Amino acid sequence: MNIKSKLVISLLTLAAFSHCTYEPYPQGKELYEAYCSNCHSSDGTGLKDLIPDIRNSTYYSTRKSQLACIIKHGLVAQDSTQVIMDMPPAPKLSNFEISNIINYINHQWNEDFKEVLILDIDADLENCVNQK
Ligand code: HEC
Repeated sequence: MNIKSKLVISLLTLAAFSHCTYEPYPQGKELYEAYCSNCHSSDGTGLKDLIPDIRNSTYYSTRKSQLACIIKHGLVAQDSTQVIMDMPPAPKLSNFEISNIINYINHQWNEDFKEVLILDIDADLENCVNQK
């Protein structure tokens, strides 16, 4: 193969990867698929009245410091809401894994995306309110 065709093939490969499969948070995606998508589904739409759609959640905006808390400790359904199911805790997830999940879902569904660091998650988990 001459150098020109090698170059063309490399460029095509690069174009294909950068266009179709580029995902900045691959570990977050994997963890989301393993720990969250059973309920909230891969596209975030949830399951009708049972599991909330998390694409426009206020946990990305006004309640973002509580997102790590609900992932780690779960969320007990309140009488005041329509939701009848609790979200189970995921105590085994490390703060690093939680930050990856949060960056993945924010990047997918929050237009105001700002990357979180593990330090942010450490602080958020120190300050969880109303959690056991
Ligand atoms: C067993 C099913 C289940 C799993 C697994 C699950 N959730 Fe949930 N999730 C729920 C339910 C049910 C609620 C609503 C709970 C409530 O409002 O009390 C919820 C609520 C939420 C909310 C808040 C939605 C809103 O705006 O009110 C977010 C965000 C969320 N989940 C993200 C996640 C992430 C991220 C994971 C994976 C780490 C996950 N969930 C795993 C069932 C689940």
